[in-house]
Amino acid sequence: MINNFTKSNELRKKASRLIPGGAHTYSKGDDQFPQLSPHSIVRGKGARIWDVDGNEFIDWGMGLTSVLLGHAYEPITNVIKKELDNGVNFIRPSFIEAEFAEQIIEQIPSAQMVKFSKNGSNATTSAVKLARAYTGKEIILRCFDQPFFSIDDWFIGDTDISSGVTRDTKSKTKHFKYNDIENLKETIAKYKEDGIACIIMEPASTEEPKEGYLQIVRDICTKESIILIFDEVVSGFRFHPKGAQFLYGVTPDLSTFGKTMANGYSISALVGKREIMELGGLEHKKERVFLLSTTYGGETHHLRAGQKTLEILNHNDYEVTKYVWSIGKKIKDSYNEIVRSLGLVGYTSMEGIDCRPYFFFKDNYIRTLFAQEMIKHGVLIQGIVPSFSHKDSEISQTIEAFEKSLKVLSYAIESKKVHELLIGEPIKPVFRKYN
Ligand SMILES: Cc1ncc(COP(=O)(O)O)c(C=O)c1O
Repeated sequence: MINNFTKSNELRKKASRLIPGGAHTYSKGDDQFPQLSPHSIVRGKGARIWDVDGNEFIDWGMGLTSVLLGHAYEPITNVIKKELDNGVNFIRPSFIEAEFAEQIIEQIPSAQMVKFSKNGSNATTSAVKLARAYTGKEIILRCFDQPFFSIDDWFIGDTDISSGVTRDTKSKTKHFKYNDIENLKETIAKYKEDGIACIIMEPASTEEPKEGYLQIVRDICTKESIILIFDEVVSGFRFHPKGAQFLYGVTPDLSTFGKTMANGYSISALVGKREIMELGGLEHKKERVFLLSTTYGGETHHLRAGQKTLEILNHNDYEVTKYVWSIGKKIKDSYNEIVRSLGLVGYTSMEGIDCRPYFFFKDNYIRTLFAQEMIKHGVLIQGIVPSFSHKDSEISQTIEAFEKSLKVLSYAIESKKVHELLIGEPIKPVFRKYN
């Protein structure tokens, strides 16, 4: 039973004094975890991590979904170590930039040109900028049911935490519901006169697209001269190494990748139609678009990590992808079976797509009590992010922890003791106006 967080608690105080939010990513913040939890991690290997108090956990977050193969996965760390000896950033591009670009173009159905960067937000923000420049229109339609597209104002201004974003920027982003063609058509009709530059959406996030849905979105975009952007920062490489666009057979105009591209190392990509992408280039006579230019965009060791990740994902008939989908399903089925057997249906369930399931909880007190109990049994969990390193021992330990934690939940709900058994505050939504 894990219950010693002495050093973590010291570091928790220090971090919140020094860093707004106590972490450099909101979803790693204290308000996203129970009080009885590790604050600071020292190292990870495979699907396990160790905190500053020496506690060992199974990690079901995997670097906010970015680590698909496993922490410190040797084939990746080896190519990085090797590349470090060659230096990582020069006065002109490394030859690896074009080499990897060519591989991405072969890999992703919609990719005719590629621009690399370091994070997903840069890629999605440059996609909407490019769409505006290409169409000469300004309105962005973003999918409302999907949680996150960018740290930049065009998206954050359309959330509950929009402080600091100008009214003008807020007024340019509108939203529509996923899997609801009528809603999309109504939204387009409403804003058409203002000039819609693009639709940005994940091809799939928490639910599968309905039969034909994505194709109809594609057709509407073509008919209305709206640029279709697929944000594949999470789905790309996880749903399928050729992207969810390949899996669902629909080709966007632009798409963005990040997260799993290099097994947690910092690289992202904007890809798309040549005719649109080349506006960011040097070989046209139109007005120039300042498209993704960062000091670190072509860092060689991260490009090498991307190449190696891609090689592994393409290997052995997509063994990694198949594995990740299968264990996600196993975990989901096991959880829901235990929930049924304990009479907890309606209080909790595991939902979503097998390669990326998520938890439903009736409220955040129940959610937090569950997370608190899982931590006691050595499992650190927000959703389920399956990786190639979650093997039988991690899966069986997790299912055992489900059984024990859900029994506590069942007792707490039956005896109306959820608030009493939860130590500290419940987890809060990231997108809220006030603390
Ligand atoms: C779908 C999606 N798009 C874009 C981003 C932004 O990526 P990054 O955090 O690398 O900027 C995220 C991050 O969580 C995401 O989930």
